[in-house]
Amino acid sequence: MDLFSWIAKRYDKIIPGFDLSTILDNLTLFQNEVILDLGGGTGRIAALFEEHVNGCILLDRSFEMLNQAKKKSNSVMMVQGVSEALPFRRGSIPQIFANDTLHHIHKQDETIEQCYEILSSPGHLMVREFDPDHWKTFFLILFEKLLFFGSKFLSPKSLEDMCKRFNFTVEWERLTKSTYLLNAKK
Ligand SMILES: C[S@@+](CC[C@H](N)C(=O)[O-])C[C@H]1O[C@@H](n2cnc3c(N)ncnc32)[C@H](O)[C@@H]1O
Repeated sequence: MDLFSWIAKRYDKIIPGFDLSTILDNLTLFQNEVILDLGGGTGRIAALFEEHVNGCILLDRSFEMLNQAKKKSNSVMMVQGVSEALPFRRGSIPQIFANDTLHHIHKQDETIEQCYEILSSPGHLMVREFDPDHWKTFFLILFEKLLFFGSKFLSPKSLEDMCKRFNFTVEWERLTKSTYLLNAKK
């Protein structure tokens, strides 16, 4: 059992919340379209998306995290799967959001490639992440190292370059000094 599955029941209490309103304020959401919450965990964000979009699919590899998400919403569609092999038709998803997830994904290149494949055209991949070059992120990196998470943090520039290799057009902005939001357009 991976660590997320192990702490799933306590995840929302252990991992401090984040400023969801700032995230939502900065996301370009398409109201009439479905969104995929990639690595959506306990559904903290998916439950909120419902008011802003036309349906939400939450994909996570941890069954236990999905079980917690089920308690927050009856209408979010839950899918157990991995980001490097997304179980969706090519060109079928108009928008994807990944919050605090990419650095936990070991196969990051494959994940970005898969996102490009399943996104419709136009389509948007939005990633909120921690900038490893900011000193505040150092403590998070240390914390996750101590827990043997095997996290791989990407600076906004590294993620931009990765997305561009798969033909995305990329913009990013800082949300706080240590976090950023990257918008990759297909
Ligand atoms: C730190 S949690 C973030 C959860 C959620 N996005 C949030 O903001 O509350 C990271 C999540 O990514 C999931 N995850 C890690 N690697 C994954 C992969 N390769 N495919 C799908 N989910 C993955 C974990 O199971 C976990 O639920």
